[in-house]
Amino acid sequence: MDFTLEERSRLDFVLALRGRWADTLYPALKSQFQSDTNQADIRAAVHRQPAYPWFAFTERTSQKMLWRGVAEAVSARGPSQHGRSSGPARLVLDPELSLPDWYTDWDIHLQPGGVWRSDESADVYEHGAKLVMLGDNDDYGFHRSFTATAIPDRSYRRIADLGCGFGKSTWPLKRRFPDAEVIGIDLAAPCLRLALDRANAADLAIEFRQADGQATGFADASVDLVTSTMFIHEIPRPALVATLAECVRILAPGGLLRFLDFTRTGDPFRDIAMVEHGERNNEPFMPGLLSADVPALCEANGLCNARWVAFDERGAGRLPDCAWPQRTEWHFPWAVLEAEKAA
Ligand SMILES: C[S@@+](CC[C@H](N)C(=O)[O-])C[C@H]1O[C@@H](n2cnc3c(N)ncnc32)[C@H](O)[C@@H]1O
Repeated sequence: MDFTLEERSRLDFVLALRGRWADTLYPALKSQFQSDTNQADIRAAVHRQPAYPWFAFTERTSQKMLWRGVAEAVSARGPSQHGRSSGPARLVLDPELSLPDWYTDWDIHLQPGGVWRSDESADVYEHGAKLVMLGDNDDYGFHRSFTATAIPDRSYRRIADLGCGFGKSTWPLKRRFPDAEVIGIDLAAPCLRLALDRANAADLAIEFRQADGQATGFADASVDLVTSTMFIHEIPRPALVATLAECVRILAPGGLLRFLDFTRTGDPFRDIAMVEHGERNNEPFMPGLLSADVPALCEANGLCNARWVAFDERGAGRLPDCAWPQRTEWHFPWAVLEAEKAA
């Protein structure tokens, strides 16, 4: 989008503020916490530090300013309409699908109105999703790195990408596995309409299907690989369990599950900061994901060899030795959830 000078200045200010929150306030809070460690109640100990109010306030406020800035810029351009392009991509919407309350009750990640309300919501999500990564994912390198390093080299007949949004997680799958049938699943019709247009513009034969990840509509044992990126931290525990059960149902014997998301790192300060990031960022199910033993949930629902593997979104991608990158600034604890269905 071509921002006006005023819009750009406003967003540049927010991005600079967010940058200082990540690279200055977070290390300052961490250094204060280390000098006054009370492991018994880590949350209370973090809250006692002098930098905490600045850190917490800046975290929520800058995120709100960012999404609001993008939403106002999109709305200033008038209504948009997606989903009318022609090309190799396909769109299957389900007018009967009712969106769960837990999905519509929150402005997820502080995006005003969420990602599902209108075609403008998809525009706001597309532009905001770049800005929120502080420019690090402008070319969707995280998603390409996930596909390149976390997906084993095999011949897949059918790949399902759950919670595909406007498709940025789905395009690299089709590019790497052009002979596979690739289907992106999402609840949000506006995102799927935009996904259709973006895939057609890139000449990618992907099907985008409106469905719940808990009930995808695929036949039993008909999918070889099920993926998702930044999806499972947005669903409550019962939906996660139902989604894992659905993956077991649709995966063919020997089929693979690969989800890029977030997990605990074992660093108590970093982990509580991430729980609170979820709380302050209107990601109501993030704390539940971080406290869950997700590999155990996978195994309890019939998957095997389930584990989290650390992921470096800026460089190496999947880190097979599970060593978390050493970085001082705030950053997401990216990890790949890996599991498979017994052959
Ligand atoms: C943070 S976005 C991630 C989008 C995309 N995978 C990416 O990495 O850019 C999460 C997506 O999950 C979708 N979603 C949330 N709950 C869902 C569900 N139960 N079934 C299908 N999609 C869902 C949302 O509509 C949203 O588009």
